[in-house]
Amino acid sequence: MPIEKVSARDWGSHPPYVHPGYRSTALRGPKRPLVPLKQTLSELTGPVYGHESVGPLDSDLTKNGAKGGEPLGERIIVAGRVLDEAGRPVPNTLIEIWQANAAGRYVHHVDQHAAPLDANFFGGGRCVTDEDGRYRFMTIKPGAYPWLNHPNAWRPNHIHLSLFGPSIAARLVTQMYFPGDPLLAIDPIFLSTPEGARERLISQFSLDVTEAGHALGYVFDIVLRGPAETPMEMPR
Ligand SMILES: [Fe+2]
Repeated sequence: MPIEKVSARDWGSHPPYVHPGYRSTALRGPKRPLVPLKQTLSELTGPVYGHESVGPLDSDLTKNGAKGGEPLGERIIVAGRVLDEAGRPVPNTLIEIWQANAAGRYVHHVDQHAAPLDANFFGGGRCVTDEDGRYRFMTIKPGAYPWLNHPNAWRPNHIHLSLFGPSIAARLVTQMYFPGDPLLAIDPIFLSTPEGARERLISQFSLDVTEAGHALGYVFDIVLRGPAETPMEMPR
């Protein structure tokens, strides 16, 4: 298949490597220009993920970590499409998500925040976009949590997302937020994305996606290129 030419990435839509307000970026962000490495067949072709490697419960975080009970918190549906710069759907894209539980705690040994773990919630899921570029997760609304960036620092409610293109070299990582969150205005990570682009990281509440009597719906489309491209935490 011929490789289609895509527009140059709009770097003004993405956070810089080093953002003074986001303290740890000063320690890990490169300060010198990156050296492009020639990609070989292994970077360009693998690993390849497909529908066959993703199980039916993988996209349901209310079930994939359950140990005989229901996870606590507000059930939500997060759904959307992966689109290219012309608004065309991008099928067969592996999307992985990870998030805190309803109390704002991750299942990770580094997270020692004094909030309860949930025996029925693991906090990770994955799915592959269909022929219309659509994806859908059932999950629990993540809680806000404190972090050590500055005194009284709290992350807004958010879900981390990773997208794989046809190979690992095409991986993109971002975060999705929720509308109306008062912590957005004071979150250095959200604010590290330039104004005018950061609003694209906020999902939209949708009654159409909401399941009556079960879960509220949020829509988050991911645009890979062009004037509406989704801000990413990415190498450049
Ligand atoms: Fe997080």
